[in-house]
Amino acid sequence: MTHILAIDQGTTSSRAILFDASLRVVSSAQHEFAQHFPASGWVEHDASDLWVTVAGVARAAVEKAGARPQDIAAIGITNQRETTLLWDRRTGQPLHRAIVWQDRRTAGLCDRLRAEGHEPMITARTGLLLDPYFSGSKLKWLLDNIDGARRRAQRGELAFGTVDSWLIWNLTGGKVHATDATNAARTLLYNIAENRWDADICALLDIPMALLPEVRDCADDYGRTRADLFGREIPILGVAGDQQAATVGQACFAPGMAKSTYGTGCFALLNTGTQRVASRNRLLTTIAYRLDGRTTYALEGSIFIAGAVVQWLRDGLGLIRQAAETQALAEAADPAQDLVLVPAFTGLGAPYWRPDCRGAVFGLTRNSGPAEFARAALESVGFQTRDLLDAMRADWSDAAGGVLRVDGGMATSDWTMQFLADILGAPVDRPRVTETTALGAGYLAGLQAGICPAPEEFSRAWALERRFEPAMAPQQREARHARWKKAVQATMQAA
Ligand code: G3P
Repeated sequence: MTHILAIDQGTTSSRAILFDASLRVVSSAQHEFAQHFPASGWVEHDASDLWVTVAGVARAAVEKAGARPQDIAAIGITNQRETTLLWDRRTGQPLHRAIVWQDRRTAGLCDRLRAEGHEPMITARTGLLLDPYFSGSKLKWLLDNIDGARRRAQRGELAFGTVDSWLIWNLTGGKVHATDATNAARTLLYNIAENRWDADICALLDIPMALLPEVRDCADDYGRTRADLFGREIPILGVAGDQQAATVGQACFAPGMAKSTYGTGCFALLNTGTQRVASRNRLLTTIAYRLDGRTTYALEGSIFIAGAVVQWLRDGLGLIRQAAETQALAEAADPAQDLVLVPAFTGLGAPYWRPDCRGAVFGLTRNSGPAEFARAALESVGFQTRDLLDAMRADWSDAAGGVLRVDGGMATSDWTMQFLADILGAPVDRPRVTETTALGAGYLAGLQAGICPAPEEFSRAWALERRFEPAMAPQQREARHARWKKAVQATMQAA
């Protein structure tokens, strides 16, 4: 048995990658699915779309490689985090569409809980903030709004899960209802210090604990797939939320190491080892991974719009036909203009946490055109990352000046990565393998299967493709960042 199948269930598509025992990509398959926006600020996924596309791409990746089911030693799962599902334990039928992490419908509820003074207790126990981003308020909304759901939940008839749990449930034919510690840590219901579901928070949100999945390590036994799916039962041996899987895939195993993934949004994680660093700068404290019952923590900065700003240039403004055109356009921008774009399209995430904000642009002149907009869009990603890294440095002195490892779609843009290094004033490292999320999930499964080496040896295999060194003069860096901060302040004031 020489292969590992990694499933990466993301916000816009489901992907599967088949790795060989040395974690080289053998084949892959991808399938996009529909996004549903039933009201302003609401985002939903059809639960069956998530499962059907995952089953399809998993089988397609195996078929493409011509691999036999008996070649696959294990499956690893990684997933969009926080997205909330509720289903019937007997029939396996979902009671509602999945409420996606981006969904803001519970902003009012979060405001109310904050006004009642609950945030400090919740932050101390979960490491999170009272924001609609996390699963807890979404699950409460489902129980409040689906007829009879809370009563049925109390009777133990229903199951809650993040996407990993939903996939495990379906892969195992309803035999296993489990999640891993990293996904649990994003629910607002999990005490990350004591590694258990928090009864007080569940009571506060009126969430019956009979709904909750069992929490396991990231490399652990999650049961076996139904035999009919692949022609043989395959063990599921690794699970982690996508940003945590990318942290593992980037081999950020030592305290002080940080990675930033540029997908729809941008998520930066800094490994803080066994220390649960409480942020004074509105970052999240979260679980990076849990192996052999030992928890490694991280500080996380979450930005909701990164790659999505390029999509907006294409689909919203019609300035480009393909994302790849953005870099050339940005290079052609007038150096004398200083357009600043604050892409708060769905509010601002860390470190501001203002779900009510909307985007703004500053410094427009009669000469401002597509090139200046493209440059401002790419720079906004760098500026936002700088805000996160500044907060990390202020929260934890061991983070000062470290290298940032990058991955995800936007990391392929040299121009963007150079600007990032310039505005951070720190080196930015792009690895040879940029499929870090799937790689992390594959590695966790391979570790449990006994075919992948221990983290230290896996780290040595991490290979640099290119390092971007900061080249901007410090004075210019600080002046440009100060202008960005002013633009953010003005955006927040306007909300
Ligand atoms: O927290 C949300 C994050 O896990 C979503 O990641 O890559 O699906 O946009 P992605």
